[in-house]
Amino acid sequence: MTQVLELDPERPQQDAIKRAASIIRDGGLVAFPTETVYGLGADAMNENAVLRIFEAKGRPSDNPCIVHVASRRMLDEVSIGIDAKAERLIKNFWPGPLTLVLGRKADVPSSVSAGLSTIAVRMPNNRIALELIEAAGVPVAAPSANSSGRPSPTTATHVFDDLAGRIDLILDGGDTKIGIESTVLDMTSDPPIILRPGWITKEMLRSVIGAVGDSSSEEDLRRSPGTRHRHYSPRARVILIEYGTTQQIEKLCVEHLNRGSVGFIGHSRLSINNESFYPIYLEAEADKYAHSIYSALREIDSRNPEIIIVEGINNEGLGASVMDRLRRAAS
Ligand code: TXA
Ligand code: MG
Repeated sequence: MTQVLELDPERPQQDAIKRAASIIRDGGLVAFPTETVYGLGADAMNENAVLRIFEAKGRPSDNPCIVHVASRRMLDEVSIGIDAKAERLIKNFWPGPLTLVLGRKADVPSSVSAGLSTIAVRMPNNRIALELIEAAGVPVAAPSANSSGRPSPTTATHVFDDLAGRIDLILDGGDTKIGIESTVLDMTSDPPIILRPGWITKEMLRSVIGAVGDSSSEEDLRRSPGTRHRHYSPRARVILIEYGTTQQIEKLCVEHLNRGSVGFIGHSRLSINNESFYPIYLEAEADKYAHSIYSALREIDSRNPEIIIVEGINNEGLGASVMDRLRRAAS
């Protein structure tokens, strides 16, 4: 049985936090909100608890988890090699949607990092998450709380739909603010390399530490195994229309409607009137797309269309991070 507790995101009920913390300490699984997406948490120092995360999600064992901390003390408990650049990033962006890949301390179970000698760490900017980690008193390993390969969850209902019966508790703190996952930055290479783009953009990182690289090479991708796996995908096939080619969209939708039902997510209003056409309109700004894209993909997918056509946005700043997720959903 999976219990769901609704919490006030500004003033989380302490009895619920205590209950969740004791489940974590006992080696159980608790889903909780962060500012990005919901995470599926377990005690990062307990090997069996960490293995349960992989089992519940159906996650490939070579895909490492992010460890969530609530204090500097906890960061030092799990990682080594925090240099001056990492210090500046922490000062500027924590708590927040930036994950740093650092050296892993030997006493952290290696399954957290899928056997890598590094560890990914972040401090989430969400009261429920921070109070839970603080009350548990241990660093919390937490990948996104979806079943493996599905879009990340941005509501407690998404978590329930994917994981009910497989986890102990869901803390419901409402809609997540950001909606796409944190930026993952590898601090073990010089210059640091972005392994997964996110809310904290390359420009924001550069303004704090100077040079920052992109992960494009095979070697970099090997460093972040998660980026190799099928990801962010609804069940239906997704076609992504790159920004600026909007004229083709209506024609494409009509063509596909001859063969079956069509889901559409985009910002251009289409004048199609057809019972088998399921449109969800978003505003074209990158933050609006980030906030709603996963929930829109899930909603349309639940209507079982033959195909989902997604209209892209401008590939700059945060827009590039959103387009990264959409390209993966479409691949
Ligand atoms: O916003 C987020 O980051 C959310 C919330 C819950 O914090 N978490 C999340 O976790 O998206 P997950 O497991 O879905 O994605 C973790 C990503 C994967 O791409 C994984 O490969 C990468 O981080 N990663 C984790 N540990 C790593 C490591 N030691 N080295 C390189 N990449 C790592
Ligand atoms: Mg994930």
